[in-house]
Amino acid sequence: MIEIEDLSFAYRTGEEDAIPALRGVNLRIGPGQFVAVIGHNGSGKSTLVKLLVAVLYPTEGRIRVDGIPVRPGNEWEVRERISVVFQDPDDQLVMNRVADDVAFGPENLGLPREKIAERVHSSLEALGLEEMGERLIEDLSPGQKQRVAIAGALAMRPRFLVLDEPTTLLPAPVAARLISTVRDLNRSGGMGVLHITHSMSEAALFDRVVVMDEGKLVLDGTPAEIFREVDRLRSIGLDVPPAVSLVHRLRARGVPLEGDILDGADLRRALAALAESPAYRRCSG
Ligand SMILES: Nc1ncnc2c1ncn2[C@@H]1O[C@H](COP(=O)(O)OP(=O)(O)O)[C@@H](O)[C@H]1O
Ligand SMILES: [Mg+2]
Repeated sequence: MIEIEDLSFAYRTGEEDAIPALRGVNLRIGPGQFVAVIGHNGSGKSTLVKLLVAVLYPTEGRIRVDGIPVRPGNEWEVRERISVVFQDPDDQLVMNRVADDVAFGPENLGLPREKIAERVHSSLEALGLEEMGERLIEDLSPGQKQRVAIAGALAMRPRFLVLDEPTTLLPAPVAARLISTVRDLNRSGGMGVLHITHSMSEAALFDRVVVMDEGKLVLDGTPAEIFREVDRLRSIGLDVPPAVSLVHRLRARGVPLEGDILDGADLRRALAALAESPAYRRCSG
């Protein structure tokens, strides 16, 4: 369980007034939850991630991970439980060779050699990097580096995986594969996932969506609940998935589409149901 209570954080920049980045955030993420976080640029998402793994410490409030308070002295206990992939992969890749970087975390956990090799292999495979173990990180593209960083996080077998906009640098098919890999690990191993994304369609694939605005948590619910709030989301600089936007416009014009519609498949079902409905048959004669 990740427990965040009354969390506030301000960046101190010299003599100037501190810049508030988080204001009174309360959030609980249960074991095995599959959660997306959305919010426009500067809403505090990356700051929250840094506080979760003790890269920064709260100005006010508390964070606990499986009961362990996140505070100086507990960093390593916390980071064994939460693995984070930061927004910029260059911030976290430490070794020269891909396989060595993925092995770095498990080595620090003091695992036996065979166990480390096994984890490196399976993590590279999960990210489609099985052929790249011997490559030098400096020769990789930004998207490949991002995948190495994610493989390294997975190799820790954490209770919670936190991904800060991991799909921004990835081509669409690789991004889709990443989400499905993470979903598999969530289902099979009970790994909790906190996935920050600017893609509304991606957020719609999660069980729960948390929305941030100006350092505050403003909405929290299922994708269906969140994407019903089309006008509210737009007022805080966010959009909705394309299917949701289309349905919003059709409903505004009186087209009686039923149910929660989040993607193209939902929309096709709703249109098929509409075509079968007595009202539609009357209209179309
Ligand atoms: N290192 C920093 N120093 C000063 N202000 C920062 C720093 N990092 C972020 N901020 C500010 O904190 C706020 C939240 O930023 P951030 O957490 O990066 O948001 P997001 O990840 O949602 O884009 C923004 O106003 C941003 O300008
Ligand atoms: Mg960010």
